[in-house]
Parts: sequence; structure tokens; C-alpha cells
Amino acid sequence: MSKKLIVANWKMHFSPSQATKHLQRLATRIKPNKKVEVVLCPPFIDIQPMWQRIKNNQFSIGAQDLFYIDEGKYTGEVSGPMLSGMAKYVIIGHSERRIHFNETDEIIARKLAAAVRNEIIPVLCVGENLIERQEGETNRVLADKLFADLIMLTGPEIEKIVICYEPNWSISSGDGHGDIAKPDQIATAIAFLRRSIAELYGKQVGTNIQVLYGGSVNADFSKTYLKIKGLDGFLVGGASLNYEEFSRIVADCQVASKQ
Ligand code: PGA
Repeated sequence: MSKKLIVANWKMHFSPSQATKHLQRLATRIKPNKKVEVVLCPPFIDIQPMWQRIKNNQFSIGAQDLFYIDEGKYTGEVSGPMLSGMAKYVIIGHSERRIHFNETDEIIARKLAAAVRNEIIPVLCVGENLIERQEGETNRVLADKLFADLIMLTGPEIEKIVICYEPNWSISSGDGHGDIAKPDQIATAIAFLRRSIAELYGKQVGTNIQVLYGGSVNADFSKTYLKIKGLDGFLVGGASLNYEEFSRIVADCQVASKQ
């Protein structure tokens, strides 16, 4: 069984002092475990102070984005070489960036290439919106995004990246608003993603690539979701801001990885 991955996406929350306090609280609650890697993705400004405080590889650091060019006149951007050494992972193509910052598949493809070039593992998010799902377009949308986003990478490079199925109709719905993806919907989408990757890059890549689920994962659903075939972990947004709840999700994952 491959290692499970839990990626906490803190989005635009926590100043450096709040982030390091949150880290301390997580550090006292989460036991290191070889089979479950916990990746914390804070805002850029928190990365260095957190990286300095993480002991014994208890957590990995991830960035929430990166620019596709390594250096130059690009006001406000942060590049792969600036992150490498601190960030082991980087989230790319999150639906919030696709929607609010107009990130196209072409930009995402270039960001994936920049991450790989700088030896940072990309967590590529792909998913459909509610209308696309209702119109039966989910598989087409997933296949189109995968094809366009991965175009600059080779099969061996793709085998080492992480894919996250992230249906945007199920994001931030855990508070009772909106829909929550059902285990069978997630299982079907994950199987489709693996099949599509196998068709494009070979069976081995389709089997070995790590596939996560992101969308309203909280401590109430994590146990159920962990039973989904082919699922290697979670991308957790809102629930990762609550240290008690996030620690419970990690603990569930550690228990499941022993079974
Ligand atoms: P959420 O976010 O857990 O708050 O729904 C998930 C995501 O960012 O993909």
C-alpha cells in the first residue's frame, strides 16, 4: 500500500505568528507516522518561519502556488527556486485559482513544469463544476484538464506528481451549505482519473500515481472516505484551520493505514 498523504490548504489564513502557533498545536497532537505524510500549505509569508520550526520531519511544507518563470521582472510573484529546499510540495491548478485568477490550463501546464524543474512535487487539482456534473460532462472535463495540464511533462515525471480530484461544487460545503460529494461519486471519478492516466502514459503510471480527494473533508466524513478504493489521501481546506479537527483526520488516516 502506498503512503497516504494529507495536505492541509490553509488558503489565505494565518499571519506568521498565528501560523507558528497553529503549527505548535498540531505538533503536540499529531504523532509522526511513516505511512502518513502530513503536508502543511500556509500562505507564502509563513513558509520560512514554519520551516525553521518543524522538527524531525514531523510535517512537510507545501506552497499554495508558484510562478512558472524562475526569476525576473514579475512583481509580486514567487518562484520555484525561492521555494525549493523549504517547500516539498506545491498545489497547482486549485479551482479557486482557476476561477478567481483566471488560470488557464496553459498556465497550469507551465506551473507544473516549473515545479518539476525545481524538484518540488506538484499537487495538481482537477475537478468539474456543478453544471458540468449535472450535464453529465464530468469525465470529459476531467480528461480535458488532465490532457492539457500534463502536456509539458513526461510519463516518468507524471508518475511522481500527485493528482487531487477536487469537484468545486463540493468545496467548503462541510458547514452544511452546498453539496457534499458522496463516496461513490469520488470513487468513480478517481477510477476515471487513473484510467485516463493509464491510457495516456501507461498502466504503471496510472496505478502508481497518488490520487487525493479534496472538498469538505472533515472529521465526520474522513473515516468513510478513507474506505474509497484508489484514494491515497486528502486535500483539506476549512477543517485544517481547526487544529483539533485536523488532528482527528490525521489520526483516522493513521489508523486506516495500519489496517
Ligand atoms: P474545503 O477545501 O475542505 O474547505 O472544502 C477543499 C479544497 O480547497 O480543495
